[in-house]
Amino acid sequence: MDHLLLPFMEKINKQVILNNYWNTMSQELSKESSITFIAQSGGHLSGQIRVPGDKSISHRSIMLASLSEGKTTISGFLQGEDSLATLKAFQAMGVEINGPDEVGRVTIDGVGMHGLKQAKGSLELGNSGTSMRLLTGLLACHGFDISLSGDQSLSLRPMKRVTDPVMQMGAIIETTDKGTAPLKIKSSEKSQLKAIEYTLPMASAQVKSCVLLAGLYAQGKTCVTEPAPTRDHTERMLQGFGYELEIERLDEQRSRICLEGGGKLVACDIDVPADISSSAFFMVGASIAAGSDLTLQHVGINPTRIGIINILQQMGADIVLSNQKEVGGEPVADIRIRSVQLKGIRIPEDQVPLAIDEFPAISIAAACAEGQTVLTGAEELRVKESDRIQAMVDGLQILGIDCEGTADGMIINGGQLTSGVVDSLGDHRIAMSFAMAALRSAGSIIINDCANVDTSFPGFVELAQSCGLSVSLNKR
Ligand code: S3P
Repeated sequence: MDHLLLPFMEKINKQVILNNYWNTMSQELSKESSITFIAQSGGHLSGQIRVPGDKSISHRSIMLASLSEGKTTISGFLQGEDSLATLKAFQAMGVEINGPDEVGRVTIDGVGMHGLKQAKGSLELGNSGTSMRLLTGLLACHGFDISLSGDQSLSLRPMKRVTDPVMQMGAIIETTDKGTAPLKIKSSEKSQLKAIEYTLPMASAQVKSCVLLAGLYAQGKTCVTEPAPTRDHTERMLQGFGYELEIERLDEQRSRICLEGGGKLVACDIDVPADISSSAFFMVGASIAAGSDLTLQHVGINPTRIGIINILQQMGADIVLSNQKEVGGEPVADIRIRSVQLKGIRIPEDQVPLAIDEFPAISIAAACAEGQTVLTGAEELRVKESDRIQAMVDGLQILGIDCEGTADGMIINGGQLTSGVVDSLGDHRIAMSFAMAALRSAGSIIINDCANVDTSFPGFVELAQSCGLSVSLNKR
C-alpha cells in the first residue's frame, strides 16, 4: 500500500516544497522593497521649512483643470504618489498634462466637460482614496466603460459610500460583493444623470465631492447636506473655475451645497499651498521637543482643516500665525511653533472632521502630554489607509505608553516613550508620526513598512533631517 502511495506522496511533497518556496520568495521580495525608518532619540526642531503641496488641493486641481476650457498652470503641485496617480489617470484619458517640473509646476490643456476619452486599461490609483472616491462621481457619465483599481489597502476600503449616491443618480457601477474596489463604471444608455438631494451619512469631504462632481453631469440641481463642516476645497475650486454654487448654512454644524448640472469650467491658475496635514507632524514634533523653534511656511489654513491648530492650542501649544493672505481662494500663513509642556484634553468632537488626518500625529502629542487625552467620535479613523486607532494604540503600547483604543477613538495617558520597533501598517501618516515620537523617546524607534510615505510626503526624511530630527531610511 505504502509503495503504491509513494508517487502521490512525492507529488504532494513537491507541491508543499513549491508552496513554501513561493511563500519565502514573496516574503523576501516584499522585504526587498520594504523601507524602514530609524529615528534616534532626542534633538529638537528649528529653522524655516516648507512642506510639499496640499494633497487634497493637488488632486482637485488636476480634475477641474482637465475638464475646463483653456490652459491652467498649477504651481506647488504635490509630487506624491497619490496626486500623481490622479495626474496619470487624466493623461490616460487623453488630457495633455505637462510636468510636474522640479518646482512642482504643471500645465494642463483642458478638454472641456465632455472631452475625456476612454482609457486603454483600468485606472490604477494605488493607495489614493481621494482619487478613487472623487473619480467615481466625476466619471459616472462619460459614455464609456472605465474601471478604477487600487493597491491592497485601497481595495479593502469602503466604496459603497460613493457608489450608492452616484447609482441613485442613475450611474451603473459594479463593485466586489463587499462593496469595495475594483469599481467598474459602465456606460449607460442615458446621456445624463439625474440630480439628487443627498444627506451625507457621515462627515466626509470625499463623499460630498463625489456627489457634487457627479452633479456637474446631472439634469437639475444636485444638493448635498453635510452633518458637520468638512474640507471645502472642491467648492472653493469649482467657484474659482467659474462654476456657480449655492451654499447655505443650516445651523452651527450642517451646511447644504447645491449646484445645477450642465455648466462649464473656465481654466484658472492655481497656487497649491503647503499641506497642513504634512505640517502637522512638524507642529507636533516642535511642540514636544524641548528647545524647538520652527516656522512652517505658506501653509494652507483653510478653516475646514485647522483642527490640528485648534487641538494643539487647547493642549497648551505655542503656535503663532503670521503673513496671513489668500492665494487662489485658499487662506495661507506661516506657522511658528515653539516647544512647551502640553497637557491632556478631551478633544471636542466638533474638531474631529477638521483634523481627521491628523490623529496619528495628535496621538504622539497626547503621549507626551501631562495627563489624559480622550478622543471620541472618530470611528472614521478605522477605515483610513489603515485602522489608525489600532495602529497608533499598538505602536504606543510597544513604546511603553498606557493607552487603549475604543470603538470611536482612543484614551491616551501621557508618559515616557521608550524605544522599540513599531509597524506603520503601510500607512504614511502612522510612519511619520512615530518618527516624530523619537524626539521625546528614551531610545531609538524603528518603524517598519514606510514606503507609502511617498504617497503624501516625498522627501520627508531629508526635510526632517534638515530641521533637526535624527531619522534615516533603510531600504531592503
Ligand atoms: C480628503 C478627505 C478626507 C481625508 C482624506 C482626503 C479629501 O477623507 O481623510 O485624506 O481630499 O477630500 P473623508 O472625507 O473620507 O473623511
